[in-house]
Amino acid sequence: EKVVLAYSGGLDTSVILKWLENTYQYEVIAVCVNVGQEDDFPAIKKKALSTGAIKAYVLDVKEEFVTDYIFPTLKAGAVYEDDYLLGTSFARPLIAKKLVEIAEAEGAVAIAHGATGKGNDQVRFEATIKALNPYLKIIAPWRIWDLKSREDCIDYAAKNNIPIPVTKKDIYSRDSNIWHMSHEGGNLEDTWNQHETNIYKMCVAPEDAPNTPGYVEIQFEAGVPVAVDGVKYNPVDMIEKLNTIAGAHGVGIIDIVENRLVGMKSRGVYETPGGTLLFQAHKSLEKLTLDRATMNFKKGISEKYAQLVYDGLWFTPLKEALDQFVDSTQQYVTGSVKLKLFKGTCTSVASTSQYSLYNEEFVTFGEDDVYNQKDAEGFINLFALPLKIRSIMKFEQENK
Ligand code: ARG
Ligand code: SIN
Repeated sequence: EKVVLAYSGGLDTSVILKWLENTYQYEVIAVCVNVGQEDDFPAIKKKALSTGAIKAYVLDVKEEFVTDYIFPTLKAGAVYEDDYLLGTSFARPLIAKKLVEIAEAEGAVAIAHGATGKGNDQVRFEATIKALNPYLKIIAPWRIWDLKSREDCIDYAAKNNIPIPVTKKDIYSRDSNIWHMSHEGGNLEDTWNQHETNIYKMCVAPEDAPNTPGYVEIQFEAGVPVAVDGVKYNPVDMIEKLNTIAGAHGVGIIDIVENRLVGMKSRGVYETPGGTLLFQAHKSLEKLTLDRATMNFKKGISEKYAQLVYDGLWFTPLKEALDQFVDSTQQYVTGSVKLKLFKGTCTSVASTSQYSLYNEEFVTFGEDDVYNQKDAEGFINLFALPLKIRSIMKFEQENK
């Protein structure tokens, strides 16, 4: 029987590959999904085969990732617990979807992954698999086997002729894709330790950024970014371009404690350079183009959306329904925003839209003929009527 394994080429998933063969006599199909992490993919494929996989796939899904996962989440304005731009969270359902597609094409009976039993990722992978194909068995070795540490894995690898990477293992648990890089574990586990700036991979440290501000102009059509500084980019190139611009100014670094779905709090450092620019610019454009009631209602939707994404509930009816609401709000979110980048900060300094609801003639302090100041009196009389009625009651009570 065949099993599809989410394979990264690292020690853990290499050990899992062998362990699946040794423990269940499965034939293993290794699948490495390229969501924009920097890796030597041909070498990963070779390693999977030399470790015993009967077949190895490398899939480049960057474009699908940006178009179908990142942009919808950007349009939704979804940010988990006010800070986290969900970089790992929304990559997991896409990876799981690819695993399911290959399992079906190859007639595999099971899918295996290397996420631990303490994290969010296991939930995201498995919820997606269940949503897309209820008949596939799921194997999460970290919840089953008795390998407890990196040392145990190294022993297992040595006994099974699995090449052990010579590079010293990162002290951090990292996850990386075109949108972000996460750092967890190591000395970050003590929340009183300040993180060291040499952990950054996508950004320079803000204090090392240029002493003069940089400016960038992002153009959106219906909530989706289409051009940077007047030049059109396809979705993947757009994110890469913005990563370079923001990374050079140290923009997009956060250090947070978050609530995991599985109950405990965890601490992580995240770099999301280009994404931070996009969220900031998109928000500014919405301020120009959305009416007050829609903006206000959408805030609640953003929060709900973020929670669904964080919790791995991507392929759900609620998430689909929220996408339709969001898309309806984005029809007129078209225009440009200019951002100023300076030593880790990113601020909107100008915005414009053909659908702008901002009207200089209405808001001007000079004379105008669309707004009659006398109308305000009647409006306030009715608007504040409940306050006045309650105040009357209180006065009457006190003077009884
Ligand atoms: N805490 C973040 C999240 O749950 C990042 C997880 C990183 N995953 C990893 N396997 N290192 O989305
Ligand atoms: C893991 O446990 O595999 C990484 C952390 C997480 O999933 O939250």
